[in-house]
Amino acid sequence: MNDVFTLKGKEILITGASKGIGRSIAVICSKNGAEVHITARNSEGLENTMNLMHTNGHDLHTADLGITEEVNALAKELPILDGLVLNAGIVKTMPVRFIKEEGIDVTFDVNIKGSILLIKQLLKLKKIRENGSICFISSVASKKMTVGNAIYSASKGAINSFTKSLALELAPKGIRVNAVLPGMVKTNILQDSSISEDDLKNHLNKYPIGRFGKPEDISYLVVYLLSNASAWMTGSLLTIDGGYSIS
Ligand SMILES: NC(=O)c1ccc[n+]([C@@H]2O[C@H](COP(=O)([O-])OP(=O)(O)OC[C@H]3O[C@@H](n4cnc5c(N)ncnc54)[C@H](OP(=O)(O)O)[C@@H]3O)[C@@H](O)[C@H]2O)c1
Repeated sequence: MNDVFTLKGKEILITGASKGIGRSIAVICSKNGAEVHITARNSEGLENTMNLMHTNGHDLHTADLGITEEVNALAKELPILDGLVLNAGIVKTMPVRFIKEEGIDVTFDVNIKGSILLIKQLLKLKKIRENGSICFISSVASKKMTVGNAIYSASKGAINSFTKSLALELAPKGIRVNAVLPGMVKTNILQDSSISEDDLKNHLNKYPIGRFGKPEDISYLVVYLLSNASAWMTGSLLTIDGGYSIS
């Protein structure tokens, strides 16, 4: 019964694996038996993730998902995959009237466009195995709004729509596509979102479980989505937020 949750024999790609949630997903996938391919821009961060992974056979690929040539080169380097975790993401927090065009572009390039182009190339190269699983890391910010997060929320909303469209398109091949929508998880991304300590304390009151997420809370759900245990799940948007969205 437990074997259905294993990732043994599966080759999994994880983007944004040089730190944070992506690093945790990589380590926990390796513990569950997967052969893991990790990517991000920072090679030192990727090396540190490699050192935390269990067993051998994993590899790393440096690539900027915001640069199409690097996305295409990455697709060429990768082997045939059983699972993809599109986790890389950035946040730019500011009211709409202060947003610059380049801020919109970089947010959409990294959060959604790079992942779309990578999947397109992998499909063209027949590098996603039948009955494979694709898992996006979206955000609860795609459905519960906070002021200053408009562009980030819009990019994550785009992921949600794309997840459902792609799930429909790839279902005949048995490839499943789902998205995970985390609430606040303590990682470096919080520093980039310019949230003050006071704001964080107030925000915590909206979490009925009484704490923010840990990267591993997200990783265990991703392992389920990559495993055969979720064979009948596709096109689903799974919220995991300590109850934030029902409060
Ligand atoms: N933490 C949260 O509260 C939270 C909540 C909901 C959703 N999420 C989502 O979860 C995902 C991971 O977030 P996190 O908190 O772990 O963030 P993080 O610690 O800042 O990690 C982000 C990852 O994305 C990679 N990345 C950024 N820009 C990239 C680019 N141009 N090309 C390739 N890789 C790039 C980074 O690697 P390099 O810098 O080395 O390239 C890093 O590995 C994101 O999609 C985020 O939106 C996070």
